[in-house]
Amino acid sequence: MFEKIVRFTFPTEISYGPGAVGQLAENLKEIGINKPMVVTDPGLIKTNVFSKVQDILKNAGAAYGVFGEVHPNPLDEDIGKALETYRAEGCDGLIGLGGGSAMDAAKAVGVLAVNNGSVNDYDCATGGNLKIKGPLPPLIAIPTTSGTGSEVGRCSVITSVEQGRKFMVCHPLMMPSLAVLDPELTLELPAFLTAATGMDALTHCIESLTAPVFHPMCDAIAAKGIELVGLYLERAVKTPTDLEARAYMQLASMMGAVSFQKDLGAVHSLAHALSAVCHVQHGLANAICLIPVMKYNREIAARDYSKVAGCFGINTFGLSDLEAADKAIEAVADLIKIIGIPTTLSEIDVKESHLHELAKKAFLDPCHQTNLRPCTEKDLLTLYKKAL
Ligand SMILES: [Fe+2]
Repeated sequence: MFEKIVRFTFPTEISYGPGAVGQLAENLKEIGINKPMVVTDPGLIKTNVFSKVQDILKNAGAAYGVFGEVHPNPLDEDIGKALETYRAEGCDGLIGLGGGSAMDAAKAVGVLAVNNGSVNDYDCATGGNLKIKGPLPPLIAIPTTSGTGSEVGRCSVITSVEQGRKFMVCHPLMMPSLAVLDPELTLELPAFLTAATGMDALTHCIESLTAPVFHPMCDAIAAKGIELVGLYLERAVKTPTDLEARAYMQLASMMGAVSFQKDLGAVHSLAHALSAVCHVQHGLANAICLIPVMKYNREIAARDYSKVAGCFGINTFGLSDLEAADKAIEAVADLIKIIGIPTTLSEIDVKESHLHELAKKAFLDPCHQTNLRPCTEKDLLTLYKKAL
């Protein structure tokens, strides 16, 4: 615990509350962006949320560019195309508007706007993060889902088209200059995406709470995030217009991403491979893999999981850590059922024949390296089989 000196940072400025996006034009001025490029996806461009942001910019007389072709799991080639638009439009800053994909893409465009080459050159797994130099263009992140928390994170998760795998580009310089958390922007999110992204937030909190890194501040934030998901996810799924539930889920999402500065675990390695190989929505992939991984970690993580039980409001008085951990696993499994998303890989057409390739890719993903219980490729394969 006290074996080495550690550094704690929580640097992102957050503008939070219903209507916060209405201050976007002022935010751009404060930050010194004259012409932002809005990075978003084709689905969001058709929504009222995009029109609202456009109206705010138009009414303020602000010039802006738009790149609206980000794929659901952003592709490396998306980043190159977005950079071309950024340069052609003469933009000097970025707005990432949407879910994790849009915000991650915006961050990666910022990296390429200053550093040369392709986004693949900055893959953390090959030390690419050490090549990133700044200053990067300023970025305002505006989430429209509550799960990824990318608005307060320093990473982009990108899919390599050639290699068919996800990789991460991470650097403290990639932190957005400002995160605008406006829960009104999440009111139109369909029930399935509310549920799946909410499970992403919960997985961030649980995996970071158990990651073997000394960071008591992140632990406290993760615990609060779990409590908020336990209290508000079901409400947000069942009553989409429940602004209070939406507002707290947005906080839970942001807190999950702040806490996973500590790192994540095996669930995310399994989920990253599922998205890359079988195109499974990230939050859903986490939700399906979370219970098998919690059971796998059960004994070694019992103490942390007993805290998870407490966060879910379970009275753990008189229970051993293991008994309380089992209650936590039960509570998470119950929540997944209540919010009505698939609970097995078979239900979403992942076949046994996919599992070896998935396990290989999951093992290459770095997240499992900070899983409290170490994982071999064979262990990951077993976890997929349990999730099937
Ligand atoms: Fe995630």
